[in-house]
Amino acid sequence: MKNAKLWTVMAAVGVATMFLAAGLNAGTTMPDTVKMEADYEHTKGIVEFTHHKHTSEYKNAKGEAITCGECHHDDKGKPLADLKEGDNVQKCFECHNKPGELKGKDAQGKPDSEVIMYHANALHGNCIDCHKDYNKANKTKAAPQTCTKCHPKTK
Ligand code: HEC
Ligand code: HEC
Ligand code: HEC
Ligand code: HEC
Repeated sequence: MKNAKLWTVMAAVGVATMFLAAGLNAGTTMPDTVKMEADYEHTKGIVEFTHHKHTSEYKNAKGEAITCGECHHDDKGKPLADLKEGDNVQKCFECHNKPGELKGKDAQGKPDSEVIMYHANALHGNCIDCHKDYNKANKTKAAPQTCTKCHPKTK
């Protein structure tokens, strides 16, 4: 009985180590697509973000290729202009670490610097702002602005 328990603990430690190793690698590999599922309970469908298409095919509102620094920045919010493939990149949630979205009267009167620390506010700020500018500049709707175009309906 005691031995069986010990094995369970050892197996758990082994699995945890594997996950940790994978986690460390994940920071440097440029993903093709990212399942946007930060570590908190989600109320909306999980967004599939096409990282590769955004960095190789799509253009920003000025018609230029989208650079890493338009989405990734440092601990002061300064764009990481020299970021390149293979660099270690932090997840948005490492800094924008308040779970979910702050909106309506919960957000009223709060400084922008506090509101932006909510994860969904940061993501929406980055993703939707560019999409809006792009659509406006190109008179199109190609870049999604409505909820269900990004969050698939769950039921
Ligand atoms: C349009 C926005 C956007 C652009 C442009 C962009 N990224 Fe990303 N990148 C993201 C998002 C969003 C994630 C997922 C972060 C998360 O899960 O919190 C990500 C994830 C990553 C990851 C994995 C990080 C991890 O810990 O798993 C790497 C590495 C990365 N990007 C590198 C780059 C590089 C290098 C460039 C420029 C060639 C670039 N990105 C351009 C938005 C972008
Ligand atoms: C190392 C910490 C850190 C990481 C990682 C980080 N941010 Fe930020 N972010 C900040 C700080 C600090 C600010 C500035 C807040 C202020 O101006 O008061 C900021 C500001 C922002 C803003 C508002 C200003 C702007 O640029 O429009 C958005 C949107 C944003 N971040 C989105 C993201 C997204 C999306 C990711 C992941 C791809 C990310 N952040 C990763 C720290 C971080
Ligand atoms: C700097 C500009 C920019 C940023 C930032 C950006 N996008 Fe986009 N995105 C585009 C453009 C442009 C298109 C449309 C390209 C086309 O179809 O012509 C697009 C298309 C999309 C599409 C539909 C097509 C596809 O590839 O699935 C989704 C979904 C999407 N973006 C999600 C996101 C998410 C999620 C984020 C934030 C993590 C994000 N985008 C950030 C520019 C941007
Ligand atoms: C351009 C794509 C895009 C659009 C449009 C969009 N979102 Fe999001 N949203 C995201 C991303 C990316 C996240 C971050 C999810 C993650 O990484 O965990 C997010 C997170 C959220 C979250 C927190 C996570 C959760 O599931 O509870 C809520 C709530 C949310 N969005 C609601 C909305 C609503 C409501 C709308 C329409 C008014 C909307 N979103 C439109 C991309 C989008």
